[in-house]
Parts: sequence; structure tokens; C-alpha cells
Amino acid sequence: MNRLPFIVSVLCLVAAALIAGAAWWVTRNAPSGAEAGVSGATVSTGRADIGGPFTLTDQDGRRVDQTLLNGKWTVVFFGFTYCPDVCPTTLQALAAAKQQLGARAKDLQVVFITIDPERDTPQALKAYLANAGLPEAIGLTGTPAEIDAAAKAYRIYYAKRGEGSDYTMDHSTAAYLMNPEGEFSRAVPYGMSPSQKAQVIRDAMQQRS
Ligand code: NI
Repeated sequence: MNRLPFIVSVLCLVAAALIAGAAWWVTRNAPSGAEAGVSGATVSTGRADIGGPFTLTDQDGRRVDQTLLNGKWTVVFFGFTYCPDVCPTTLQALAAAKQQLGARAKDLQVVFITIDPERDTPQALKAYLANAGLPEAIGLTGTPAEIDAAAKAYRIYYAKRGEGSDYTMDHSTAAYLMNPEGEFSRAVPYGMSPSQKAQVIRDAMQQRS
């Protein structure tokens, strides 16, 4: 007798059991809505659970909080001044996108929050943003705990890589457009060209005017 069909059915049963087991495990271990932040408990008004309160120090040494988002459209972006690629590329693209907004550029601000407070002092941020062609951008730093809280609020991942003075940082490339109430409006993905970024921002502004 040909035993192949029998072996195939046994394998199918084993596979089905494994899938059922995995599904049970995932369900059992998935955080509830509240734990996962889906309920929005940490954000009072945002449509997506991105953003929230923070207290940080700007490039002029002033203590600021999330109210600096009020009254303007803001692209919030996390990075660090020693970043070799993602951050310079993003800031360059945002500078170009802002120029393409023409008269509406005055309604947009860029907020760059460092995830490397060890090296990124207010003075370092100020020099960096000027060199990146965005001297009017707001650079924010703080204590490691303050940076951690801000990164968590914006769902940003970052991690130190390496030891000594040669370390670098991994970080999410996400940039977020926040509306003039300081609420999340839409993502401005890293891969977009300056004109695509400008279009995303223009669309968001137009939908509300
Ligand atoms: Ni970077």
C-alpha cells in the first residue's frame, strides 16, 4: 500500500496542532488594549497614539514642553548630530520640502529631538541645525530620562551601539506631522522625496483650511 497519503495527513494534523497552539499562545500573551496604549490613555486628543507631553531643553537653553507645538504645523523628528546618513538626509529633505511650501512655509516648524543627549548639548544642536540648512528649526535635548519619555510618547525606538567615544545610535527613521493643536496628523516617511513630503504637508494644511 502507498503510505504517502497517510504520512501527509499525519503531517497536516501536526501542522494544524502547531498553528492552533501558536494562535493560543499569541492571544494569551497579547497585551490588552489599555496596556498596549490603544485606548489612548497617554494621549488626550490625538487621533493616533503618537505624541504627548514632554519637557525638554531647546538649543538656546530654554526649558520647553509640548505646548511649543501649538499654533503651527510641526514635523517632529528624532535623531542625533553624529548620525552619518538618516538624519542629514531627512533634515535636507525637510529643508527642501519647506521651501516648496512657498507662502505656507511660515506655518511649518521642524522639531529635531536628539536621542543622544550625552553628546547633543543645546550648543551642538544649534550648530548642527544651522549647518543642515534649517537654522530656524527647534533642536531639543534633555536628561536621558526626559529623552526616553519623549521617545516613548512618539513611539520611537533608539539604542546605543558600541562603547567609548566611538559609539553610534540606532533609531527609528519616522517623522511625524503634528497639527496646530499638537495632535498627530500624518507620517512623513523617510523614503519620500522632498516634493512628496511637501505634498503630504500641503494636503494636511489644505484639508483644514
Ligand atoms: Ni539618524
